[in-house]
Amino acid sequence: MDPDFWLARWDNEEIGFHQPDGNPLLAAHWPTLAIPPDAQVLVPLCGKTPDMAWLAARGHSVIGVELSEKAARALFAEQDVQPETHERDGFTVYSAGGIAIWVGDFFAMPAAVLADCSALYDRASLIALPPPMRQRFAALLTEALPADGRGLLVALDYDQSEMAGPPFSVPDSEIRQLFEPAFAVECLARKDTLADNERFRQKGLSRLWESAYGLTRNR
Ligand SMILES: C[S@@+](CC[C@H](N)C(=O)[O-])C[C@H]1O[C@@H](n2cnc3c(N)ncnc32)[C@H](O)[C@@H]1O
Repeated sequence: MDPDFWLARWDNEEIGFHQPDGNPLLAAHWPTLAIPPDAQVLVPLCGKTPDMAWLAARGHSVIGVELSEKAARALFAEQDVQPETHERDGFTVYSAGGIAIWVGDFFAMPAAVLADCSALYDRASLIALPPPMRQRFAALLTEALPADGRGLLVALDYDQSEMAGPPFSVPDSEIRQLFEPAFAVECLARKDTLADNERFRQKGLSRLWESAYGLTRNR
């Protein structure tokens, strides 16, 4: 998507994707991945999710990447902390309390910074991107994450003919096509969440599967 699309969503507060209490699949499945607390976690396309604070509270150093400066400021304001800022490699970096948000385009992130992240948390990031960008996104992660890389990916699967994205439907077969064989891909949970999602029912969806995947680097 065009960056202006997302910046307008934030400017107009059209952020229906935001979950003020975070995503329950994180607390349910992150512990099963046995990711050590000293692993630095990459959260691409992070918005202002409180999931970043949840990860930081478990001892992780967290690197978020987000186009919208408004989102970055809001994340820290909602945690009641005053971030420091500095400029690096064309990004403005907001940081406090173990969380750093790099404000700018994820696809322009310095490879060395990504390579320092041995863990990944993606909720509504891959599925925010149209198909060609999903290929680039997965290729970038595959290229950048180190040999012991592991993570949790939360995706949606619905009948794409019933609604235009974003969020886009990314079925199990595509997750595997994007990440295997560099990662072992394990579906940890799948649930039809349509009953809990009024805005998607109103758009006419007949099902809305939310799935959590564990990704473990193979090579
Ligand atoms: C669907 S939202 C998900 C946000 C967050 N992961 C969550 O769970 O609330 C997608 C976010 O990605 C950001 N975004 C989209 N394209 C981006 C890019 N190329 N680089 C960095 N952020 C991007 C948008 O501004 C938006 O906040």
